[in-house]
Amino acid sequence: MKVVVTGASGYVGAAVLERLAASGHQIKAIARHRNAEAPGDTHWVLGDVRDMDLVEPLKGADAVIHLIGIIREIPRDRVTFELMHVGTTQRVLAAMAASGVGRLVHMSALGTRAHAVSTYHRTKWEAEQLVAASHLDATIVRPSLMFGGHPPFFDLLGQLSRLPGVPVPGDGKTLFQPVSRQDVAELMVRILEDSASFGLTLEMGGPDRLTLNELFDFMARRNGRVSKPPKLHVPLGLVGMAARLSSVLPIPITPDQLAMLTEPNTTDDTRWHHWVAEPQTLASWPAE
Ligand SMILES: NC(=O)c1ccc[n+]([C@@H]2O[C@H](COP(=O)([O-])OP(=O)(O)OC[C@H]3O[C@@H](n4cnc5c(N)ncnc54)[C@H](OP(=O)(O)O)[C@@H]3O)[C@@H](O)[C@H]2O)c1
Repeated sequence: MKVVVTGASGYVGAAVLERLAASGHQIKAIARHRNAEAPGDTHWVLGDVRDMDLVEPLKGADAVIHLIGIIREIPRDRVTFELMHVGTTQRVLAAMAASGVGRLVHMSALGTRAHAVSTYHRTKWEAEQLVAASHLDATIVRPSLMFGGHPPFFDLLGQLSRLPGVPVPGDGKTLFQPVSRQDVAELMVRILEDSASFGLTLEMGGPDRLTLNELFDFMARRNGRVSKPPKLHVPLGLVGMAARLSSVLPIPITPDQLAMLTEPNTTDDTRWHHWVAEPQTLASWPAE
């Protein structure tokens, strides 16, 4: 198949490109920067999805995998959830209609719902509604937190877990169900040509359910720390105050991220195992 991938240079994009190439698909990759480690015959179309022409790059394609998304807004640079989640999806859908591409695999996120606390999840929901209304052969994929390689969130947990006392927002008992980036890429590529996946919204959580406290312990162990690091549970009100300053100070957590860290992110949806029979466990993530 001829497959166009948006967000191709990112953390997920790298795995999707590798998996597409392994199956012999022809890849057109859209991003502002090229990933030097992408498969050699990847055709890059460099540009900003907010402004660039998307119709021409999509002409002749069989499918689009739309990955672009952000986790942190930078309003002065026009990087907002509304523009990057809803606006880019609108542009991709319009370009698909104009270029006659009928198949879409759309990246969303676990926790997406109409009245979510975080703007991240609310705008992901709005984007999903556009996809559902588009009459394309679309599949929406909603993964939980991803592991594998160097995910920025786990890297941050890893750095914090080296401290003598780990600062944890609140009681740290929120449950997460990390899923392997490889498995997400595997699913997205396997369903490309499978009409049984058309119209589905597939939630993806991995085999392990861990609290935030346990994720810190996991990363500490991974970094060679023998005992569990002591936790300093910081009241949510205080973390919230700090998070509100994250737009002007180098504070690693935004109010939106804090909202996501304090609501469970798990799912009982196992339909994706039909395409990925043996989901990877956290323990299988090779330490480097
Ligand atoms: N990582 C996770 O744990 C996780 C979990 C659930 C869902 N997701 C979703 O998965 C998707 C991919 O996430 P990720 O972790 O791979 O993010 P990422 O590493 O930040 O990658 C984002 C991609 O979007 C591209 N991009 C951003 N702004 C752009 C613009 N204005 N024009 C063109 N391209 C632009 C980036 O490329 P350039 O900077 O080169 O332009 C990059 O290729 C997102 O939709 C995210 O919400 C991620």
